[in-house]
Amino acid sequence: MIGFLKSGSIGDGFVIRLNRMVSPETLRIGDFIVIQGRLYQYFTIIDDLRIMSSNEDVFFAPPDDDFKKKAITGPIIFSEALLSPYIMADSAGNISSIKTIPEHFSIARRATGRDLETIFKKNATVPFFVGTPLTMEEKIYVDLKKLCERNSAIFGITGSGKTFLARIIYSGIIKHNVASLLIFDMHNEYGRMAKSGDKHLPALKFLFPEKVKVFDVANNPDADSYINIPSKYIEPQDLSLVSSSLHYSEKSEETALLVYRRKGDNWLRYLFSLQGKSEKEIAEEAERIGANAASLRALVRHLNRLSSLEFIRDVDDNSIDEMLNYLKNGISVVVQFSGKYANDPLSYFLVANVISRRIHRKYEKLKEEEREKQRIVIVIEEAHKFLSTDLKDQNIFGTIAREMRKFNVTLSIIDQRPCEIDEEVLSQVGTRFVLQLMDEKDMDAVFQGVGSGKRLKKILRTLQSQETLLFGYSVPMPVAMRVREYGENFFKEIQEEKEDPLKGINDIYG
Ligand SMILES: Nc1ncnc2c1ncn2[C@@H]1O[C@H](COP(=O)(O)OP(=O)(O)O)[C@@H](O)[C@H]1O
Ligand SMILES: [Mg+2]
Repeated sequence: MIGFLKSGSIGDGFVIRLNRMVSPETLRIGDFIVIQGRLYQYFTIIDDLRIMSSNEDVFFAPPDDDFKKKAITGPIIFSEALLSPYIMADSAGNISSIKTIPEHFSIARRATGRDLETIFKKNATVPFFVGTPLTMEEKIYVDLKKLCERNSAIFGITGSGKTFLARIIYSGIIKHNVASLLIFDMHNEYGRMAKSGDKHLPALKFLFPEKVKVFDVANNPDADSYINIPSKYIEPQDLSLVSSSLHYSEKSEETALLVYRRKGDNWLRYLFSLQGKSEKEIAEEAERIGANAASLRALVRHLNRLSSLEFIRDVDDNSIDEMLNYLKNGISVVVQFSGKYANDPLSYFLVANVISRRIHRKYEKLKEEEREKQRIVIVIEEAHKFLSTDLKDQNIFGTIAREMRKFNVTLSIIDQRPCEIDEEVLSQVGTRFVLQLMDEKDMDAVFQGVGSGKRLKKILRTLQSQETLLFGYSVPMPVAMRVREYGENFFKEIQEEKEDPLKGINDIYG
């Protein structure tokens, strides 16, 4: 036991007087504490810690050795923990929100592994071990089924551990067949292998060779397939999304729309065909379609970079249909951007948007039974670029975020700049993992609409790399945790076959 209940209220939280043997230095904001009432157990989180005294006189003649200090610890000087209660459980382990308050002197103790099971595992459909409380070695589970039923997000600054956490969660989703993932892998970290410093770690394709297909926009020996995007799949709205990469102005957007209206699906091929034409020829074309000559010339020039993307090809083989087939059949797809397309925002945003829109359209048309058979989770990094207030209506992700719960397609967004995501979209995020954040605006954004946001923000400030807050739809109460190690133990546990997962990597990379 660490202490007993001294005062408090359901609204403001409980105050625990710490046992004299318990040093306040051994407790941490965010720790899990259980208050053992007569009828219920109350699950709480340490919200604050403070040292107190019942008599100020003692500070005029402070104890000059440990023995004297011990003698006054308890009766005169003592410490308190402020706890936020979140849920309570009856003697049968049924959990509910806090409705009553425990009696005076109810005992407070640290949560045990069994408590965590009662809270996080017992009522979950697909419980999955994701981490341990900040100062304990016990397991915290997230319900993967619920996680995929609504949009979810992983927020945190660069280096906070977003990608590692994401790989852990996606491994769980794939292993337990909860959903097919469509991952737009901007930095090549989810496919076969991931680099961490100078080490190579297995990634999803390596861990689940049968359940993951890697598609690449460039030639990559690790890929199962290559991506072709026929130019007719690209619409003017796709280019608005990448306008800064194309140095594309509003005028160009209007001209593109005009060309689209005149030429339909052929609009882009038509514009590409104007490249290399003389000023006079373009002016004649402009005349023909009723566009302003200078604007048309500018638009054609802005499309130079686009026409150099080799994956925009008018060929028959249809990699997007192939992808949809995999997804429908429970196989996850990682879309990679290797070679000259690595870390290229233009390729990333364009490809993610065009593919997701096609898949969305096809999925919308499926019969309900077919959709229900297989849930799809679309993963996007740098999500704020797609989901900013300015752009969310110009791309498919805003639509998916808002409506797709009913079509069984949800988003998993990974981002370091949550304050730039549109508020309405943020409010549609069911489960949030919040790793370290530094910027006040970002911290405020992640807690928008969260009742206990103010308290959780205090915990957030104390987090280090690889630590996260987890709250929302897929857990019964918020929790601060250390994300489990993405290392050998994890690989052994998650892999279907029992062979040494690192063996292959060592063979390849020595
Ligand atoms: N769960 C984890 N297991 C092992 N190492 C981790 C874990 N989380 C973070 N790390 C370490 O922290 C580094 C940064 O993590 P990463 O996920 O790449 O951050 P982010 O994607 O937020 O920029 C990793 O290279 C790794 O060394
Ligand atoms: Mg990352």
